[in-house]
Amino acid sequence: MKLFIDDAHIEDIKRIYEYYPVDGVTTNPSILYKTGKNPLETLKEIRAFIGPDAELFAQAVAEDAEGMVKDARFITELVGKNTVVKIPSTPEGFKAIMALKKEGIRTCGTVVYTPMQAYLAAKAGASYVAPYVNRIDNMGYDGVKVVAEIQEILKNNNMDCEVLAASFKNSQQVMEIARMGCGSATASPSVIDAFVRNAAIDGAVNDFVSDFEKLTGRRTMTDLK
Ligand code: E4P
Repeated sequence: MKLFIDDAHIEDIKRIYEYYPVDGVTTNPSILYKTGKNPLETLKEIRAFIGPDAELFAQAVAEDAEGMVKDARFITELVGKNTVVKIPSTPEGFKAIMALKKEGIRTCGTVVYTPMQAYLAAKAGASYVAPYVNRIDNMGYDGVKVVAEIQEILKNNNMDCEVLAASFKNSQQVMEIARMGCGSATASPSVIDAFVRNAAIDGAVNDFVSDFEKLTGRRTMTDLK
């Protein structure tokens, strides 16, 4: 499963890249809003840091298909070929995805709450579909189950489209998605940090260091040289 950072704060992105094996960055207009900065400058800054080969997701904001197509062209010109343009999985969005597929611009059908939205976005030519796991949970449905149903639809219809599971609020949701062999997931820096925030892990590591120090008076193997 590919793992993306769902954030646009460059310092957080740099920190997560330093400590975790991640594959790229996903954004949406609300995530860009949280930086308080010019969105175009933010996207360019993220691209400069992650390099030309990593995937960067940025969302078209226009409300009609023609505008979405224009936004998508502009975004990909601005931040390079490995950019995936997120398009809402609505009728206007499906129209835009079909047009962008013909132009060779890769898209992600986003704002996915139902398997039918995912099916239509994939059939229209989206490279990814992004179900919102936590938001679905909050509506009283089972977000992980919706992802499983979407995976099944894509597989059984031989669709060339990958699930990008999104909107996580805890590690358990991400773990369930990884267990089912989902293509990709995107999570905020705080959720990624929480993957291994565990007193048992810290305690075990501290015990090893402390026992070594009691034995040798040193804290690392290298200190013994
Ligand atoms: C990603 O595609 C989504 O825009 C994002 O994960 C939504 O997350 P949220 O529900 O935390 O806003």
